[in-house]
Amino acid sequence: MWALGIKGKQVAGVTSIVGLAVVVLSGLNLTSLARIRVEESVARAELLASTIFHRAREVVALGGDGYAALRADAGLRSILESSVYSSNVTYAALVNAEGIIIAHSDAAKAGQTLAHLPTLTTLLEQGAIAQLRAIYREEGRTFEIERPILMDGARFGSIRIGVSMPLTRRGLTEALRPALLTALAALVGATLVAMLLAQVLLRPIHVIRSGLTRLGRGEFGVAVNLPQQDEFGDLGGFFNTVSAQLSADRSELAGQKAKLESVVEHLEDAVAMFTPDGELLFANPAMREALPPESTARTVDELLPPGHPYRNLVEETLRSGHSCGPLSATVPRREAAESGSAGSSAAGERLVLTNVITDRDGRPVGIMLVARNLEYLGEVQSTLNYSRKLAALGRLSAGVAHEIKNPLNATMIHLELLKQRLSVPVVAQADSDAAGRGAGPDVAAALGHAAIIAGEMRRLDQVVQGFLKFARPEDLKLQAVSLGTLVGQVVAVVAEQAREQQVDIQIECPRDLPALRGDPGMLQQAFLNLALNAVQAMPEGGRLRIAGAAVADSLVEIVFEDTGVGITPEHLDKIFDLYFTTKGAGSGIGLSVVYRTVQLHDGEIEVRSTLGHGTLFRLLLPRAQAPH
Ligand SMILES: Nc1ncnc2c1ncn2[C@@H]1O[C@H](COP(=O)(O)OP(=O)(O)OP(=O)(O)O)[C@@H](O)[C@H]1O
Ligand SMILES: [Mg+2]
Repeated sequence: MWALGIKGKQVAGVTSIVGLAVVVLSGLNLTSLARIRVEESVARAELLASTIFHRAREVVALGGDGYAALRADAGLRSILESSVYSSNVTYAALVNAEGIIIAHSDAAKAGQTLAHLPTLTTLLEQGAIAQLRAIYREEGRTFEIERPILMDGARFGSIRIGVSMPLTRRGLTEALRPALLTALAALVGATLVAMLLAQVLLRPIHVIRSGLTRLGRGEFGVAVNLPQQDEFGDLGGFFNTVSAQLSADRSELAGQKAKLESVVEHLEDAVAMFTPDGELLFANPAMREALPPESTARTVDELLPPGHPYRNLVEETLRSGHSCGPLSATVPRREAAESGSAGSSAAGERLVLTNVITDRDGRPVGIMLVARNLEYLGEVQSTLNYSRKLAALGRLSAGVAHEIKNPLNATMIHLELLKQRLSVPVVAQADSDAAGRGAGPDVAAALGHAAIIAGEMRRLDQVVQGFLKFARPEDLKLQAVSLGTLVGQVVAVVAEQAREQQVDIQIECPRDLPALRGDPGMLQQAFLNLALNAVQAMPEGGRLRIAGAAVADSLVEIVFEDTGVGITPEHLDKIFDLYFTTKGAGSGIGLSVVYRTVQLHDGEIEVRSTLGHGTLFRLLLPRAQAPH
């Protein structure tokens, strides 16, 4: 069916209303004109009849045979003959009481009987339609008007005038033409105005339609600007609200999709998604290795050879409509012709399963295929086992070290007692008798040995203590720690030594520095180790700078910078190793403790050193509360 748009309907409506008004008005105009015409004809015919009547009465009044006088009267003749020159009079006649023509505008008709025709007065009484029909009937229709002539109270005859209605038509049409032209102009004008109005009224619809098109194309933040004062303004407001909501939903969805995709992309498991028709929608990198290149939108039987475990499982799921697996299967290598170099890592033992994804009404919308690499899991398992073993070994060694400490302490105490025993007689003898010196050198030598043993014992004790500290750090007690306070405590410890060596300590810790999140005891130990190393590296004096600063959103940077001897490049790689030292009396534990502390706090440490100029240690540690 031919459908009209709103604009078409509006134009058609306005045009037909105006058209109807024009037709009705024209009809009324026409009927009143027709009536006027008929009345005019009647008036003119009656005027003519009066003229004839007066003449006839004058002629008859002369006496004698009235009919003969009338027949012979030239005046009457000329009136009758000239009457037909009037626009619509067809004849004028004078007949006697029997209807025989006495005088006629057509002289030849004298003596004939004049047949009666419908009278004009009747037509006048009839309705407008009858009058119009009389005027517009093609075959000429003549009406007449009759005026009786009475002489001395007796009917003498009558005057009859014939009037042709169609002859009045021409005048009528001429009178109608301007009216019709006006009506036509009104119609055309109304159509144009209606079109213009429709254009103006429908503009908001076009604006909203183009907005919808843009929304449909997926544009974000589409808004329409419509004047607020009418219903279209409200509609525009609703549109903008819906568009904003849609944009928000879309971006949220896009974010979720991206997140989901990145999760799936990085999964160790191979994941693929098929449509309910078996076409591939998506495959993550792990799965793509098992599939030929450009596999999207191809069906599973085009992608994989018959008998392939993935294909079997997907086909089984498509057939049954139920999730399958998990099954353990051996995935064959992809054929060389298709795969090129890639694909070998996709082969091997896999745990395969499919999952039917349904919509809210339970209809399947897709099939997810997941293949888990059991070999990889095995590797992880063995690494886990290995680290468990290491942890057990660590606990064992810490236990052994602890057990060594007790006999070591006892040995030290007894060695001290032994030294006291040995030295007492020597002192007594020296006081009483110089001759008793025979035993002196032996005792002195024994004391010397005891001193060496004591020294070695202390070293052993230090090693064990260091190992214990390193291997079994106390549980982390994380809390907010002020860097300024920590640095103050550390500097108090090293200040004396620094003063002796003429090392100038410079502290740069802004007051508003955010607090650290850490274990205060462990951090203090680590900072002390760094400060001690720095002071020890400056035997000839120098400057130690300790500076704190907030970096990034969630970190605090701490720098220990000295102007000491520096570290050779070959040593730089080893300084964090346990027991690595270049100092005669050093244990090589200090920096390993620092490293371990930073690790336990999820921090970072880096070192830069120039031989002969100085060393800089830079630590990054987490803040107590990251600003939101
Ligand atoms: N600020 C520094 N300047 C120069 N060398 C340094 C500095 N800090 C550390 N080192 C080098 O790194 C080595 C290891 O340092 P570490 O603190 O681990 O052990 P140590 O200081 O030798 O002994 P201790 O266990 O008594 O601290 C040092 O022997 C030294 O050679
Ligand atoms: Mg040290």
